[in-house]
Amino acid sequence: MAPIVEAVDLKKTYRRRRGVDVQALGGLELAVGEPGAVHGFLGPNGSGKTTAIRCLLGLIRPTSGQVRLFGVDSTTGFHQVAHRVGAIVENPKMFPNFSGRKNLSLLARIYKLPSREVDRVLEIVKLDGREGDTFGSYSLGMRQRLAIAGALLKDPELLILDEPANGLDPAGIAEMRDLIRSVAAQGTTILVSSHQLNEIEQVCTEATIIFNGLVVESGSLDAIRARHGAVDVIVGTDQPERAIEVLSAAGMPAGHRNRPSGGEGAAIGLVTVDVPAADAARVTKVLADSGLYLSELRVEASTLEDAFFRLTAPPSPTAVDRIGVTA
Ligand SMILES: Nc1ncnc2c1ncn2[C@@H]1O[C@H](COP(=O)(O)OP(=O)(O)OP(=O)(O)O)[C@@H](O)[C@H]1O
Ligand SMILES: [Mg+2]
Repeated sequence: MAPIVEAVDLKKTYRRRRGVDVQALGGLELAVGEPGAVHGFLGPNGSGKTTAIRCLLGLIRPTSGQVRLFGVDSTTGFHQVAHRVGAIVENPKMFPNFSGRKNLSLLARIYKLPSREVDRVLEIVKLDGREGDTFGSYSLGMRQRLAIAGALLKDPELLILDEPANGLDPAGIAEMRDLIRSVAAQGTTILVSSHQLNEIEQVCTEATIIFNGLVVESGSLDAIRARHGAVDVIVGTDQPERAIEVLSAAGMPAGHRNRPSGGEGAAIGLVTVDVPAADAARVTKVLADSGLYLSELRVEASTLEDAFFRLTAPPSPTAVDRIGVTA
C-alpha cells in the first residue's frame, strides 16, 4: 500500500526577481505510512516546513522531486484526494463578522455536507458555547480550534496541521495536544509541524526533524530518543566526591544532586550523571570497577529537546574553527 504522505528528493527553490534565490528544500524525504500515526514535522524557523506542506497540498510546485498523498502526485492530482485531506496552513482565513458556527456552515455548504457535520466537529474541538460569537472576537486558541474544526468537516483520513500551537499559551498548547490526541484516536493520521519539539513531543508517535531543507533525523520517537536522548542517572553513594571524580575521569559528566530536605537516607550523597541513554549501564560498571558500591540507582529520562537543538543548531564558531584547523 502506498504511504499516506510521501516526499522523495523534494527540492524547492524560490526564485527572486531581485536578490539571490532561496533554496528552501534541498532534497527532503518524508514518509508517513501508518494510519492513525501522529507524525511530528519538526525544524527551526525557516527550515522549510511550510514550504514542504504547501508542496504536499499542491499549493506550490516543487522545483524537482515527488510529493504524493495516498500515492497520488500532489502537483498534478491533489484534487483526486482533496476529500480525504484536511489541512490548516499558517493563519487560516475565516469571516471575522460571522460566528464560528456560521463560518463552519459556509464551509460545509461548499463541501456539500449536511449541517449535522458542523455539530459533529464543534463537539470535537469544544468551543465551550462560544460557537455563536463572531470569529473576530475569538482568542488565538479559539481561532486555531475553529480552523481545525473546519479541516475536520470532511472527516478526513489525513489531517495536516502547520504549527497549530503557534502563539498559544501553555494551557492552549496542552488543549491543542488533547485535541490532536482525540482526533488521532479516531484513526485519523496527523502530520503536525512545529518549531518547538516540546510542544508536540508528547503526542507524536514518530517524527521527521529537518534543518535547512534536509532531514537530519526521522523515525519513531522511541528510536530517535534511543539514538539521541540523554538520561540522567542518579546514584546514591557514601562517597559522592570520589564517585564524581571516577565518573568524570571516565568521560561521564557527573555532579552533586540535592536530596529533597528531610528526605530518607540523608547520610548517603546523591550524584547525577549525564550520559547518552545507551551508556547508562556503564555508570554502574565504572563505579563498581573503582570499588564504589551504590545504595541507590535510578534513571531519569530527559526530553528530546537537547537532541533537537543539537541536530538543528547552526555550527558554533568554535566547531567551525575546529573543522578549519583539522581540514
Ligand atoms: N514565497 C517565498 N519567497 C521567497 N522565499 C521564501 C518564500 N517562502 C519561504 N521562503 C524562504 O524559504 C525558507 C523556508 O521557509 P518556510 O516558511 O518553508 O520555513 P518554516 O520551516 O515553515 O519556518 P517557520 O517555522 O518560520 O514557519 C526560508 O528561508 C524562507 O525565507
Ligand atoms: Mg512555517
